[in-house]
Amino acid sequence: MIYANIAGLSYLIASVLFILALKGLSHPETARRGNLFGIIAMVLAVVVTLANTDLISNYLLIIIAVAIGGAVGAAIALKIKMTDLPQLVAILHSLVGLAAVLIAKSAFYAPERYGIGAVGSIHLNSLIEMSLGDAIGAVTFTGSIIAFAKLQGIMSGAPITFKGQHALNALIGLAIIGLTIFFCISQDPVVFWIITALSLLIGITLIIPIGGADMPVIVSMLNSYSGWAAAGIGFTLQNNLLIIAGATIGSSGAILSYIMCKAMNRSFLNVLFGGFGSGDSSGGASSAQQAHERGANVGSVEDAAFLMRQASSVIIVPGYGMAVAQAQNAVKEMGELLQAEGISVKYAIHPVAGRMPGHMNVLLADANVPYDMVFEMDDINSEFSSCDVAFVMGANDVTNPAAKDPKSPIAGMPILEVERAATVLFCKRSLGIGYAGIDNELFYRPNTMMLLGDAKDTADKLVRALKGVSH
Ligand code: TAP
Repeated sequence: MIYANIAGLSYLIASVLFILALKGLSHPETARRGNLFGIIAMVLAVVVTLANTDLISNYLLIIIAVAIGGAVGAAIALKIKMTDLPQLVAILHSLVGLAAVLIAKSAFYAPERYGIGAVGSIHLNSLIEMSLGDAIGAVTFTGSIIAFAKLQGIMSGAPITFKGQHALNALIGLAIIGLTIFFCISQDPVVFWIITALSLLIGITLIIPIGGADMPVIVSMLNSYSGWAAAGIGFTLQNNLLIIAGATIGSSGAILSYIMCKAMNRSFLNVLFGGFGSGDSSGGASSAQQAHERGANVGSVEDAAFLMRQASSVIIVPGYGMAVAQAQNAVKEMGELLQAEGISVKYAIHPVAGRMPGHMNVLLADANVPYDMVFEMDDINSEFSSCDVAFVMGANDVTNPAAKDPKSPIAGMPILEVERAATVLFCKRSLGIGYAGIDNELFYRPNTMMLLGDAKDTADKLVRALKGVSH
């Protein structure tokens, strides 16, 4: 009784901390605090659960599992590159899905241990909860593995489509619903396993037609699924904390997917069935000579430093290339040097710049760029027309005016309107395409100057040029 009260209170505190963690993570300034709340909540939840001696019969096994899982997690966290985070999130979601499936199976075969009835006479509500947790968990498991493989380049990022694909998915979906009803009536283990197998299959068939460019939306959607799977299992385990945490993850993941779709001006159904983007960003003309022949105006680092020195305002637009090159510290130093000369410097962030939500905010925060210099797209777009230099650092799609063409694959995506600046400096390695796989005609405009080269290398050279050091 005393344990039940302490556990209830601790779970309530942990639930509140999880919600505060999410709130904190919604802004870079409060993100560290949010993260800390999340860690405290998780430690509290684990300790209180482990303290339930009625439930746990073998502590040694749990300690060994925690040690192995903790060591693997710590090793990955230390090694992972920022640009690889989306695939790490995807593979971790697959484990949440797998856990949901395994718990559902264990509840089905040992219902007495969970207080949900006996073999062959499990309570109806528990059957519904466990079959939902099992099915959503299985879809999350295989779907996340496919998302991981596409993002990691193990599988091609191009959409894999075939005739009758949507009909097949609809058929499998209907079969899962029908069999779930039958399972709840019959409690037949074979039917339960068939539901799992079909759910594993639909996880694959749903995700393979999705192109690489849409994968971050899918990862967020799978995040949402994993939350609902956890909430479903929370009901089976009669664990309020798991229900609250699962539902929080489920709804926040769904909201994030919605925000990403809105930032790309696409419907969620279009993402699911659109088959958009190859996932590969291939190079175009990479030498100054080739770029020149294609009509682009290619400048040197000295030209760029001169132009920026003459400016009274510079807006820096970071993108995926800055992340790959890890150029954020050099970019920040460049901005500081310009500011020291009395030039106004601001950073403009597009909501889907980079490869995950908040990608650019995290990088700039990592480089200690003050938050009051960083502006979201809607707040800064009106300033490009009065700014002297828009400095685009490894971004492409998020500036591409092709979005205004209804026939373009990125039609309707709001963009950072860098073309309105007096001069646009584009730092990238070539005239190649971005993630959406389409050309950017801004490279050939008269007010554009291309700075061809790696973002970090170019930013380092610019810093030296601004300091007046020859290289
Ligand atoms: P992209 O359009 O992908 O352009 C990035 C550019 O960086 C490339 O054109 C590439 O050109 C350049 N680059 C690569 N490595 C570089 C390096 N080492 N140094 C300098 N430049 C380098 O990126 P973006 O403008 O940030 O747009 C993001 C894209 O991802 C959008 O299409 C968006 O819809 C999609 N997406 C993002 C999200 C989230 S949540 N962020 C979600 C879904 C989809 P070169 O090869 O010529 O160097």
